[in-house]
Amino acid sequence: MYDGWKIIVGLIVFIAFVTLPFTWSTGKEYLKVEPKIDTPEIQKLPEAERKCVESKEFMRKEHMKMLIDWRDAVVRDGKTLYVNSQGKSFNMSLQNTCMQCHTNKSKFCDECHNYVGVKPYCWDCHIEPKENIKKEARL
Ligand code: HEC
Ligand code: HEC
Ligand code: HEC
Repeated sequence: MYDGWKIIVGLIVFIAFVTLPFTWSTGKEYLKVEPKIDTPEIQKLPEAERKCVESKEFMRKEHMKMLIDWRDAVVRDGKTLYVNSQGKSFNMSLQNTCMQCHTNKSKFCDECHNYVGVKPYCWDCHIEPKENIKKEARL
């Protein structure tokens, strides 16, 4: 087992090399994008309630999964209410919950998605909020 140390050093360098780009890019991902949360609907909320369904950190990482869980709960199990970690209830709906606060899809959802190159197909069926059009005009 002579030269064993070389293998170990090699492994360490290899692991650092392989993981570094990921560490860097996940750090950068969120520095560059600025999803806007200044919609009139969000501004209207009292400051203490100006929050998402769950914490910002949770939403950032888990919103995709949350939406799929919501869809399954509604479509498969016929449930409609989601109770969050604070005990607050939300109607499990993409259009009627998420997009009621995040009415600025292009400056919010799309801002991140364009950056990371994902294009959720949800809007083939679900109706996007009509931006810059009076709220009453929406269905
Ligand atoms: C009651 C209004 C409201 C609803 C409903 C709501 N959000 Fe939010 N959302 C917010 C606010 C306010 C923030 C910013 C929270 C903060 O800064 O602490 C936010 C933050 C987020 C973030 C993180 C943004 C970032 O900068 O990291 C994501 C992702 C998100 N929301 C997605 C969703 C999705 C998906 C839904 C539906 C499942 C949803 N939101 C429902 C108000 C809402
Ligand atoms: C802070 C940045 C950010 C914001 C804001 C954001 N997303 Fe995302 N979203 C992402 C990232 C990153 C992914 C890709 C995750 C992955 O591939 O693991 C994603 C993926 C998704 C997916 C799954 C798409 C797929 O094809 O896998 C859905 C659905 C989704 N987002 C919905 C929304 C909706 C609706 C909003 C606005 C209410 C929103 N997101 C706002 C960052 C964001
Ligand atoms: C082929 C059309 C279609 C596509 C694409 C689609 N959905 Fe749906 N979705 C539906 C239908 C139909 C319902 C049932 C509506 C109802 O029962 O009120 C539904 C229900 C839901 C619900 C629960 C009810 C509600 O009002 O929101 C959620 C959440 C949801 N979908 C999320 C998503 C997400 C996230 C995506 C993209 C990753 C997506 N859907 C893509 C057709 C679609």
